[in-house]
Amino acid sequence: MSFRIAPSILAADFLHLEKDIRLVNECGDVIHLDVMDGTFVPNISFGFSVIDHVAKIAEAPMDVHLMVVHPERWFEKIASEGAAMCSFHLEAAGDGSADFLARIRSLGMQAGLVINPDVPVERLFPYIGKADYFLIMSVFAGFGGQKFIPESLARVSALRDEIARRGNSAIIEIDGGINLSNVRSVRDAGVSLAVAGSSVYGAADPAAAIRALREA
Ligand code: DX5
Ligand code: ZN
Repeated sequence: MSFRIAPSILAADFLHLEKDIRLVNECGDVIHLDVMDGTFVPNISFGFSVIDHVAKIAEAPMDVHLMVVHPERWFEKIASEGAAMCSFHLEAAGDGSADFLARIRSLGMQAGLVINPDVPVERLFPYIGKADYFLIMSVFAGFGGQKFIPESLARVSALRDEIARRGNSAIIEIDGGINLSNVRSVRDAGVSLAVAGSSVYGAADPAAAIRALREA
C-alpha cells in the first residue's frame, strides 16, 4: 500500500504561506488543514479566510481536520473550497457521526472520523463501512509540536486488523508528533497517511524532510 505524507500547515510560516503550500504541491502528497474553534480544543488556528487562499494555489488534495463543535455546520463550505477529504471528531459528533459521514460523502469528499488518544479505538468499529478513512490522534488535538504517544501504535494495528477482518478498504491516517524516529513504526502498524507539522516545517530542508519521512 502506498504511504503518503500530509504536511500540516499549522506549523507553516504564515507570512510566507504560498511558499509552504507550493512545497506540498511539489514534494508532499496531501495538504493537512487544522481548523480549531477554541471550544472543542483550547486553541484557535485559522478559518476560511486562510483556506480560501490555500485553495487558490493547492494542487495537492486538501484534507480538512475539524477540531470544532458542530462540525456539520461547515461541510458544505469545505466542499465548496474543493477539499478532497474532510474529518471530524467522534467526541464532537457523538450519535450524529454516521449521518455526518454520509453527508460528507454526498458532497463528494472522502469522509474521515477522528478520535483523541483517550477514546477507545473500538468506538470506531461501528463506522467501518461508513468512513473512507480514520484519523488516529497520536497527541491530544489542539497544538502542534507535541510528543508522540507510543500507545497509538497498538490502536492503529487493532483498527487495521478490524478493517481487514471486515474486508473493508478504509485507510488509517495518524496525526501528532510524527518524525523520523517513529514514522517507520506507524507505517508498519498500518498507517498509510501520516500528518507531519513541526518535523517538516521546522526542518532546515522541508522538502528533504518530506522525502525522508515517506521513504523511512
Ligand atoms: C494537532 C493537529 C496536528 C498538528 C500536528 O491538533 O491536528 O495536525 O499540526 O503537528 P505536529 O506534527 O507538530 O505534531
Ligand atoms: Zn490535524
